Amino acid sequence: MRKISLISHTAASIVSSCFLLTQGQDTITAKISIAVEPLNPVAGHGVTLTPGVVLEDFKRCRWYRGVTAESEDLIFTHIPPFYVMGVACTLRETIGPGCSLHIRNLVPEDSGIYTVTLDEGGMLSTTGHVDMEVSEILSRPVLLPVESVLAENRSVTLRCSTSDSSNVKVFWFKNGELLQAQAGLSEQNRTLTLAGASEDELGTYTCEARNPISNAISNPSVISE
Ligand SMILES: *[C@@H]1O[C@H](CO)[C@@H](O)[C@H](O)[C@H]1NC(C)=O
Ligand SMILES: *[C@@H]1O[C@H](CO)[C@@H](O)[C@H](O)[C@H]1NC(C)=O
Repeated sequence: MRKISLISHTAASIVSSCFLLTQGQDTITAKISIAVEPLNPVAGHGVTLTPGVVLEDFKRCRWYRGVTAESEDLIFTHIPPFYVMGVACTLRETIGPGCSLHIRNLVPEDSGIYTVTLDEGGMLSTTGHVDMEVSEILSRPVLLPVESVLAENRSVTLRCSTSDSSNVKVFWFKNGELLQAQAGLSEQNRTLTLAGASEDELGTYTCEARNPISNAISNPSVISE
């Protein structure tokens, strides 16, 4: 841990800062929040990430794609009024007021953690992180096989093909009813294996993909005797 020592002087002898760091190169680091607008960013659209509290006269700010401030993840260095692109810049990013980061024409790969660092001059530095998830408007999942015969003790595996994004959930329906806590679900619910153990398994199945901004229902799959 870094140590901060308070130097006491007489009121007359000290004018501005009364904080001193025991190691000169070390900085005082404060955490800030980052607002994401809109809350659920959509592929093809834009997003603005705005640091919570920014001093008007910050000396330098930097944005990174990633959880740590590594130079290979640097998007921008902004030393008002100038800015310099980093290697992680995709040319879709711009800097706005208060060192906000705007990314246009989002792609799902933009999802992840973003880090901002703000140097307020001298030894004061501020860091913030935000996890941003880009959602796509889901197209209709494809459920295969479209039909199948279920023989006793012969399992059948239904496969629901949709986005493999971590924010896409898959739900299954049999004859229009949601299957809850269903045995045989695997691969993040992308597959459903019917064991062929009971006639209860016969029916018409559909799967539904959902993410924070959309949902889509598959074609039916008919399982008969
Ligand atoms: C299916 O499995 C059950 C339990 O293991 C067994 O009793 C039954 O004979 C099997 N049926 C067929 C057609 O193999
Ligand atoms: C899997 O399905 C269950 C039951 O419907 C649901 O509660 C769960 O959130 C689903 N998980 C994923 C990753 O789709």
